Amino acid sequence: MSRERWDAVDRYIGDMLVGHDEALERALISSAEAGLPAIAVSPPQGKMLHLLARIHGAKSILELGTLGGYSTIWLARALEPEGHLVTLEVEPSYARLATGNLERAGVADRVEQRVGPALASMRSLLDEGAGPFDLIFIDADKPTTPDYFELALELSRPGGVILTDNVVRDGEIADPASEDPRVVGMRRLHELIAVETARGHVSATTIQTVGSKGYDGFTLALVLAG
Ligand code: SAH
Ligand code: DHB
Ligand code: MG
Repeated sequence: MSRERWDAVDRYIGDMLVGHDEALERALISSAEAGLPAIAVSPPQGKMLHLLARIHGAKSILELGTLGGYSTIWLARALEPEGHLVTLEVEPSYARLATGNLERAGVADRVEQRVGPALASMRSLLDEGAGPFDLIFIDADKPTTPDYFELALELSRPGGVILTDNVVRDGEIADPASEDPRVVGMRRLHELIAVETARGHVSATTIQTVGSKGYDGFTLALVLAG
C-alpha cells in the first residue's frame, strides 16, 4: 500500500469527519512558514486525541512536546469547563509561535506553557504538587520516552490515561537489533509498561497507524489504582 493512498485516505477522513477549522489550519501554516518540522499529529489523529480526552471527561491534561501547538489546540478544546492544560517544550522559538496559535484558537486562557527540558519541567510539577493529571500526552524527544512515562505515572491519578505518540516507527519497534535511539527508547517503553502491567499498575495496548504521517502508532495506557 502506497504512501499516496494513505495521504488520500487522511484527506478523505479530514473532509468527511474531521472538518476544517481555521485556527487549527493556521497553526500548521504558521509552523511551516516559521520552518518548524512538519511532525504535528495528523488531523484525524488530533481529533482522536480530542475525542479520547472528551470520552475521559478530562479536566487536567499534561502534554510533552508543544511544537506549534497543533495537538495542544485539539486537546485544550476537549477540556471540561474550568479545565487546564500544561504543555512542555524545550525550544523557546517553537513555544513563542505556539503562544500565538493558542491565542488565535481561543484556548490560551486554559493553557499553561512551560519552556525547558520536559524531564526538568515534570520534576518541577511534582515538586509543586501539581496534578494529578487526568490525561498525559507524551510526544517530545523519543529516546527519553521511558523516563517520561515513569514520571507520567507519578503525575497521573488512578484512572488516568497516558498516551504516547510515535511508538512503532515504521515497524522498527519489533526489531531487537535496531540501534536507532528512538526505536530503542520505544522498546524500553514497552518493556517498562510490561513490568508495570505485571505489577498491576497499568493496563495498556499499542495501536499501529498509517496515514499522512507514515507508518507509526500510539500507546494507550490506563493507570490503575495499584
Ligand atoms: N505534539 C506536537 C508535536 C510535537 S513534536 C503536535 O502533535 O502538534 C516534538 C516536540 O518535542 C518538538 O517541538 C521538540 O522541540 C520537542 N522536544 C524535543 N526534546 C524535548 C525535551 N527534552 N523537552 C521538551 N520538549 C522537547
Ligand atoms: C517525528 C514525528 C513525530 O510525531 C514527533 O512527535 C517527533 C518526530 C518524526 O517523524 O521525526
Ligand atoms: Mg509525535
